[in-house]
Amino acid sequence: MARSSRLLLWALLSLPTPSLCGSMAAWWTDIGPSFVMQNASTGLLTHNLCHSNNTPLYPVDPPVSFQTTYAPKDGTSLAATGWFDSKTTWASLFYQNNNDDIVNAVYTCDFQTGAYKHVESSVISDRSGTPAVHPETGPSVTLLGEQEGYRVFFHDRAKALQHVKFTQVENWSYGGPVSTNTNRSGMAIHSMFSGVRNVTVVTPRDSSNMEVSRLNIDGTWHISTFPTPFRSTNVTNISNTTSVPYANTITLTPTTPLESWSGNPKALGVAIDTLLTRHIFYIGLDRAPHTLSTFVTTSTIPGPGKGGNTVDVTEREWRPQPPQDETHWPLADSPSADFAIASQLGTSSIRLYYVSGGGVVEVRYTGGRWDVAGELAAFNKNGTIGGTGEGSGGKEGGGGLTAEQKVGVGVGVGVGVLGVGVAVVMGRWWVVREREGGFGPFGVVLGRMG
Ligand SMILES: *[C@@H]1O[C@H](CO)[C@@H](O)[C@H](O)[C@H]1NC(C)=O
Ligand SMILES: *[C@@H]1O[C@H](CO)[C@@H](O)[C@H](O)[C@H]1NC(C)=O
Ligand SMILES: *[C@@H]1O[C@H](CO)[C@@H](O)[C@H](O)[C@H]1NC(C)=O
Ligand SMILES: *[C@@H]1O[C@H](CO)[C@@H](O)[C@H](O)[C@H]1NC(C)=O
Ligand SMILES: *[C@@H]1O[C@H](CO)[C@@H](O)[C@H](O)[C@H]1NC(C)=O
Ligand SMILES: *[C@@H]1O[C@H](CO)[C@@H](O)[C@H](O)[C@H]1NC(C)=O
Ligand SMILES: *[C@@H]1O[C@H](CO)[C@@H](O)[C@H](O)[C@H]1NC(C)=O
Ligand SMILES: *[C@@H]1O[C@H](CO)[C@@H](O)[C@H](O)[C@H]1NC(C)=O
Repeated sequence: MARSSRLLLWALLSLPTPSLCGSMAAWWTDIGPSFVMQNASTGLLTHNLCHSNNTPLYPVDPPVSFQTTYAPKDGTSLAATGWFDSKTTWASLFYQNNNDDIVNAVYTCDFQTGAYKHVESSVISDRSGTPAVHPETGPSVTLLGEQEGYRVFFHDRAKALQHVKFTQVENWSYGGPVSTNTNRSGMAIHSMFSGVRNVTVVTPRDSSNMEVSRLNIDGTWHISTFPTPFRSTNVTNISNTTSVPYANTITLTPTTPLESWSGNPKALGVAIDTLLTRHIFYIGLDRAPHTLSTFVTTSTIPGPGKGGNTVDVTEREWRPQPPQDETHWPLADSPSADFAIASQLGTSSIRLYYVSGGGVVEVRYTGGRWDVAGELAAFNKNGTIGGTGEGSGGKEGGGGLTAEQKVGVGVGVGVGVLGVGVAVVMGRWWVVREREGGFGPFGVVLGRMG
């Protein structure tokens, strides 16, 4: 209880200062979601304890931070991903240094302390042909798997959407332009994929529209906008997307405008569920989260003879989903606020992290519903945990470890000890568990919201 009031005091004290409005990123490994945020006053990249499971334990007093060989610039945007290799968890961070280059820094988890150990760092935006990176770009990373490697999306100085890629064979190299549009109202980027390489990249386009780039089976990026679509349906990475005209809105069926959309949110988020429904998140001018989804319907058209059936996959248009109340989706402290998103396709789970009431809150979608949001757990040197727990459903009662948090620490330590015992001989560091699809309730339930 004393701990709770301390936290409340901390929250109140930090409310008028801008120190919490740092850039942040989140990702999901097999042991749960992880979170990183740049401390605006120290510039340090603070993270949750890397052995936390399910709910990140995010120490603030004192914080734990990533060691860096290339200092991140103040106010850098962050992107991050990670994986569990049966021995330990890895984190792979992307940020801009003071030269505006994109740096990739790789870490492994020390399960004894919950701190990450630095493995290696390199500048990845200096490879042949890569255009100079825009100082305000929001980078985004998608980790496609062990063979396919990473794709990192960023804006060049002209604001065109570009990417660099990493494969086992080629190491880092320039991937080419994704969308050549240089007339953008905002610099946020987020990306996610399903299946093999089916990557979706979302950016703001203008004060009314978002731009979605999706890698097609033919290897080109297909660009579309919503709510107002392009006049042409054949807009790709080859097109000059700056000048592509919108469809004539008078002939269109009325589209719903993006609610509370500034055209320049600090962050965007994409999540894909087990039904392959894609969801986009942003925080609006009203400080509330907003989400739009495109549902997929699969129908089998009977064909002549055995095996003659064809499967028809239809994607609906992006459709706004109803809001949740403030206990599930607390208001952010600022309009169009920064947030971080982590999602896990296999379980259709989503977490959003953002600053609300002076502290970082965790918004959770699990098991087919939005849970009551909680403040991100804080964990100090004395080994006491405060903050979340109460918020995360209330049923666990007051201070101390919630059942969930006990499992979290326990699993982390257990796995770490097991890893040391088994002494798995590490292969190359990018060995990643491929994602597996499956069918769960997520899309169905979200669908019922609408
Ligand atoms: C940033 O770091 C300073 C110094 O460690 C600390 O006092 C402050 O609480 C940190 N801010 C946040 C938001 O964690
Ligand atoms: C990629 O290449 C750089 C130098 O060219 C090297 O330092 C780095 O270790 C390589 N990364 C991997 C994962 O092989
Ligand atoms: C850029 O986009 C804005 C908003 O859509 C538009 O009004 C403006 O004419 C565009 N500028 C150019 C150079 O295309
Ligand atoms: C991704 O899925 C869409 C919709 O099914 C499809 O049109 C596209 O070609 C796919 N892209 C890849 C790379 O498989
Ligand atoms: C468009 O993307 C495809 C696939 O990545 C690539 O082969 C092609 O070179 C790209 N075109 C341009 C103009 O970048
Ligand atoms: C789409 O655009 C590409 C490149 O401009 C062109 O080769 C292709 O024929 C177009 N396809 C259609 C259906 O218009
Ligand atoms: C794309 O179109 C814009 C607006 O029409 C123009 O200013 C720009 O030069 C074009 N870019 C290229 C690469 O042709
Ligand atoms: C640790 O516990 C001691 C004694 O209960 C207390 O005085 C101290 O403030 C605690 N430290 C932190 C960082 O909470």
